[in-house]
Amino acid sequence: MNRTVIYEKFGGPEVLEIRDTPEPHPQAGQVRVRVTAVGLNPMDWIFSSMPQMAQQFGITLPSGFGTDFAGTIDETGPDVTAFTIGDRVYGGAVGRAATDHLIVDPTGTDTLEHTPAGLTDDTACTLPVAGATAAAALAAIDLRAGDTVLIGGAAGGVGVFAVQLARAAGARVIGTAAPSTFDFLRDLGAEPVPYGPGLADRVRALAPDGLTAATDLHGTETAEAALALGVAPQRISTIAAGPNPPGGVRATGGANALPGDLKRIAEAVAAGDLTVPIEARFPIEKIQDAVRTQAERHTHGKIIVTL
Ligand SMILES: NC(=O)c1ccc[n+]([C@@H]2O[C@H](COP(=O)([O-])OP(=O)(O)OC[C@H]3O[C@@H](n4cnc5c(N)ncnc54)[C@H](OP(=O)(O)O)[C@@H]3O)[C@@H](O)[C@H]2O)c1
Repeated sequence: MNRTVIYEKFGGPEVLEIRDTPEPHPQAGQVRVRVTAVGLNPMDWIFSSMPQMAQQFGITLPSGFGTDFAGTIDETGPDVTAFTIGDRVYGGAVGRAATDHLIVDPTGTDTLEHTPAGLTDDTACTLPVAGATAAAALAAIDLRAGDTVLIGGAAGGVGVFAVQLARAAGARVIGTAAPSTFDFLRDLGAEPVPYGPGLADRVRALAPDGLTAATDLHGTETAEAALALGVAPQRISTIAAGPNPPGGVRATGGANALPGDLKRIAEAVAAGDLTVPIEARFPIEKIQDAVRTQAERHTHGKIIVTL
């Protein structure tokens, strides 16, 4: 049995089907991973519901689903030296991860890392997209000790990493969320503020000495509030406003992360210095429910699918 999530047409979660597909075998340079956990990201349902976005990433129908995975190597192709059967690994394979047996090409566009001891597959599968993107969002604004940073969408999949990384760097963190999310954000080390109209005024009241930096993980509201509060555009980043955000602020994303960022974050999680809140786990048979929950855009931490 090789369960694989597949969609043959674009649409809502209902287009996602589970098929028993032939077991694949690795070619030269490739490994096969017995996947045990897939971490969901908004890009997954964005691709399966928005053809123009899927096209930008080279996804054609029928397509697999999911990107971030963790599991154990159970076959290797010829010429693989860095990995062997039995290695615990995690990584990213865009639009293919949700399958029992995943072919990964670590010499191509896929990401593959050894899972540090002490890190479960459930946690390792949450790291690649969200962890790397959070690191890139903070690097783009040169976040440093003594900063007061506003993080928009601070409780989401990227936000939980950004808040903790910013705190670890020595910054004061103010994070936007719905009021019902405030306790969750406080536990992560952020001072919560409600998103929505009037954000700049509320942030000014919380930080009368001023903000020094901001990163917008939801759209443009946080970036615009930071500009209104006098933060220099080069100290404001956004990951979710397209390539040309307003006011000259910096557009960035996971692709801009440094090569060592993901491993550094994985080691920090394994050491207990960072935590990854997991909002919900769904068995692969409930993939539609998992995606429906993710697409509501009120996730706190990460949603994972288990295989
Ligand atoms: N460029 C890249 O490389 C890249 C990489 C990863 C993600 N992204 C994009 O970045 C965004 C965030 O990703 P994610 O994984 O963190 O998503 P997510 O987990 O779905 O984010 C959910 C969070 O968004 C918050 N939220 C909902 N409405 C909001 C609003 N109006 N203003 C501010 N926050 C709001 C929610 O807070 P409450 O529950 O408190 O409402 C929730 O905690 C997505 O658009 C994603 O596509 C881009």
